Amino acid sequence: MEAKLVSELTPKKVRTSTLLEFKQAGRKITCLTSYDALTSGIFDQAGIDVILVGDSAADNVLGYTSTLPVTVDEMIPFGRAVAGSANRALVVVDLPFGSYETGDADALATSIRVMKSTNAAAVKLEGGVRSASQIRAIVEAGIPVMGHIGFTPQSVNTLGGFKVQGRGSDAEALMQDALAVEAAGAFAVVLELVPAELAAEVSRKLSIPTIGIGAGAGTDGQILVWTDFAGVHGGKPRKFVKKYADLNQVLSDAAKEYVADVQAGMFPAKENEFES
Ligand code: KIV
Repeated sequence: MEAKLVSELTPKKVRTSTLLEFKQAGRKITCLTSYDALTSGIFDQAGIDVILVGDSAADNVLGYTSTLPVTVDEMIPFGRAVAGSANRALVVVDLPFGSYETGDADALATSIRVMKSTNAAAVKLEGGVRSASQIRAIVEAGIPVMGHIGFTPQSVNTLGGFKVQGRGSDAEALMQDALAVEAAGAFAVVLELVPAELAAEVSRKLSIPTIGIGAGAGTDGQILVWTDFAGVHGGKPRKFVKKYADLNQVLSDAAKEYVADVQAGMFPAKENEFES
């Protein structure tokens, strides 16, 4: 059988079934986070397949020090803005901490609320074996679910900080988490901070796509937090991040130039003024 052309694998609208086709064809899946209409529109037009309205909005937009405080009420406007400006990408909204752990009914109620109020295509939640029941309940109601295992930021306090998961004898538990997420009906799973060899093994074993962040090149796709990939944060990026732009520098230089222009009476110039 002839391999498909990349153009044939670039549909007008990415759906959960498209991601499965990408995996089966060996076409890597590209994902970024976004929390607003402008970046979402840019990433969508650039050909990003999946845009995640991550609960990383907590630290990247709202200034919290972890993802734990962000609420469903806070996530909904971000989800609506992103879904409203992405025409091709599959938009997934994170279920925040405290909105699904208490049981299947709560998980389903939150998911229904998120889907109705944002127009996103799917939700994401953290946890493998421990969240399988909630994943199944949401999927059975007709809502696609993306899983998230390995380092799960909402459990940062039990995981003892920002640490690689699944090393040594913990590898088997991580594999069981991945299998549980797939068996519960998730359409894809994020593997965060997982040793590359283990992530590749999980990706071979699962039939659903794996999306890695700090999980090496052997996953079916990659995701980065947009403020990391675009260098909005100053300083050296974390090991697993590649900085594709230095927006921190660009914005800082622009702000300094603006200050200097205003103080020197150079802005506004004649061409920025209205005539009477
Ligand atoms: O919230 C988020 O940005 C995420 C990614 C790290 C996958 O869950």
